[in-house]
This record gives sequence, C-alpha cells and structure tokens, in this order.
Amino acid sequence: VTPRPSLHLLVVGLGRVGRRLLSLLDESHDRLPFTWSLAGVCSRSLGVAFDPAGLDAADWRGATAMGATRAGAGTAAGAALLDEALPALRRECAAGHVVVIETTVLDAARGEPAIAHVRTALDAGAHVVTANKGPAAFAFHELAARAERAGRAFLFESAVMDGVPVFSLATEAMPGVRVSAFRGVVNTTCGYILTAMERGVPMATALAEMQAQGIAEADPTLDVDGWDAAAKAAVLANVFLDARITPLDVSRTGIRDVDPEALRRVAAAGQRLRLVSWGRRDGARVEVHAAPVALAADDPLAVVSGLENALYLATDHLGEVGIVQRDGGLTQTAYGLLADLTRISRHLAR
Ligand SMILES: NC(=O)c1ccc[n+]([C@@H]2O[C@H](COP(=O)([O-])OP(=O)(O)OC[C@H]3O[C@@H](n4cnc5c(N)ncnc54)[C@H](OP(=O)(O)O)[C@@H]3O)[C@@H](O)[C@H]2O)c1
Repeated sequence: VTPRPSLHLLVVGLGRVGRRLLSLLDESHDRLPFTWSLAGVCSRSLGVAFDPAGLDAADWRGATAMGATRAGAGTAAGAALLDEALPALRRECAAGHVVVIETTVLDAARGEPAIAHVRTALDAGAHVVTANKGPAAFAFHELAARAERAGRAFLFESAVMDGVPVFSLATEAMPGVRVSAFRGVVNTTCGYILTAMERGVPMATALAEMQAQGIAEADPTLDVDGWDAAAKAAVLANVFLDARITPLDVSRTGIRDVDPEALRRVAAAGQRLRLVSWGRRDGARVEVHAAPVALAADDPLAVVSGLENALYLATDHLGEVGIVQRDGGLTQTAYGLLADLTRISRHLAR
C-alpha cells in the first residue's frame, strides 16, 4: 500500500471559509487520500502563527484571539506568514508537499494582496489553492504560467459556484473540448435576494439573511453592485474563452436599483429576473457581461432560485453542457478547496 502523501498547509486568511475548511478536513479524515498538518495561519486581526512541526488545528477553527506571535500585522499578515514559513519549509516545498490556501477577502479593484500571495507561494515551490476570485480574475494567465514553470498547482475550483466542479469538469472531464460561450447565475447572494423579492421580502432583509449565513461577501456591496458576478465572469472568460480581461473590463450592472414592483411584474408575466454572468468569444473578439436579465420561463436559468447556482457552457463537441448547484454555502466552498487539495495529493502519489 502506497503511504498517503502528507501536506503542510499554510492558511492565508482565516475567516468563514478558512475555518470551515479546517473543520471539514477534520470531519473528512477517514476519506482523505492525504494526511495534513497545519503549519501556519494568519489573518489581519489575528496576526501570524507558524510552527513547522504543526499547529493544533482545533485551536484555530474558532480562534478569536491570536494569543501567539506577531498580532496586529494587518494586511501585511499574509506576506509576513509566507516570508517566515516558506524559507523554513524549503525542503518540504522542494518535495512538493506545501500548499498555500488563499482565503483572504476579494479585492474587486486589483485582486491584491491575493495575487502577491499566490506569486510568492508558487515561486517558493508551494502549490496554491484559493477560494478568492481575485487571482484568476486579474492574473489567470500569468499565474497559470508561473505555476507551470514551477511544476506546481494553481487551483481555484471554489472561486466560482462554491464546490461544484466547474473548472475540473472542463479540464479533466471534457479534454479537448472548446468552450465558445458561458452563461450562468453564479452569485448566490443576489439569486437569493431576487427570489425573496419576488415574494415581497425587502432587499435589505434578504441581504441580512445572506450575511447571517456567511454567504454574502465581507463587503456586501460587492454582491449587490455586481462586482462578485463580474469577477466570476472574468475568471470564466479568462479560463474558458482564453480572454485577457479583469473584472474592470466586464460590462456590469448590479441589483441595487432593481425596483420591487418591476420585479413582481416580471414574475407575474412568467419571467424571472436574475443576475446573469455571460460571455462569448467571436473570432478575436470577447464580450463579457454581468447584469440583471428578465429570463423567459423556458430558459434553463429561469428555474434557478434561492441558494441555487447554474452555469451553461456552449462547446464545440458536446453542444451545451450545464452544471447546477442546488445548495450553495460555506461547506460547499470549503469542499472546493478540499477537492483541490485532493487533486494535488493524487498527483504526488503517482
Ligand atoms: N463565503 C462564501 O460563501 C464564499 C464562497 C466562495 C468564495 N468565497 C471567497 O473566499 C474568500 C474568503 O471568504 P470568507 O467568506 O471566508 O471571508 P471572511 O470571512 O471575510 O474572511 C477573510 C479572511 O481574510 C483575512 N484577510 C484579509 N486580508 C488579509 C491579508 N492581507 N492577509 C491576511 N489575512 C487577510 C481576514 O482577516 P480578519 O478577519 O482578521 O480581518 C479574514 O480572516 C473571499 O475571497 C470570498 O470571495 C467565499
């Protein structure tokens, strides 16, 4: 029996997703094809903790205070952890056993400092998995090339549609297939709000529910103003359409100005108003949008409601291929990271 590879994990950003990943790793221990130790964690308010021999993950799942070293590092916490940990784990990096898990907040203007975290990690020989859309939305091609040169993985399955396999569906399950367009309802918070508004629930009430469930972005204006949907559209366009765009290039309209009366009229006419992210390549031209759209009743995206997400890809060999997530949330997002860790460990076991 081949021993399971051991992974040394560095968690950059210990918020809702990072903490849920630590508990999910624990809950899934009997089905993981790898063993793991938590070498380091950091957050803006908690600071940095690093121990090459491994921290006690149970202490960090619910940590409210660092009680340890270098508190108050602020936005430099990620850089501080990586600067300390990666040289100390040089041998483990060289063997391909170190994974940086990037779960800091989305910066919809530049994707930083997440992109810097990814570059630093790959250059030191660590793999990167991230739930943060910033790196692939702003710098997919550069980071993918950097990972390729280093012989390391740069994976971001949970950046779009939480844990369902959007990117691995295309790269692993549909080899050689070309995607010419995509169209999806991929922002759970806005989908939930619009569905609730159809029932007469005020936008602010529905948004508060999404915040309470940890699904809304830390800054919820990123959801209601369409930045999250635009960032996801940029990731999908960069990966599937070989575009070289950022979220700033996406034509974007959020749901902030959706009139509840107009929304109910659309619903009464049998249509559904949803925040749709879509893009298509036509020769050398790529266009990418994120905006509320009134969908006809027979549109497959019109049945997407509540916490559901769906994405349809137009492909050459397979026609239209769709993937639906019925329940989105923190567990699903953490699972996407766990699935990426599993992919890395399988590669190591070969
Ligand atoms: N929540 C979801 O359902 C979901 C789904 C898919 C993708 N995502 C993505 O996953 C990422 C994490 O989401 P979340 O819900 O876990 O957010 P969150 O609860 O706000 O956690 C973010 C964490 O990052 C830390 N942080 C921010 N900037 C940092 C820096 N420069 N260095 C070190 N740590 C830093 C924060 O520290 P402090 O708390 O100490 O300030 C916090 O611990 C985001 O990019 C989000 O877009 C989330």
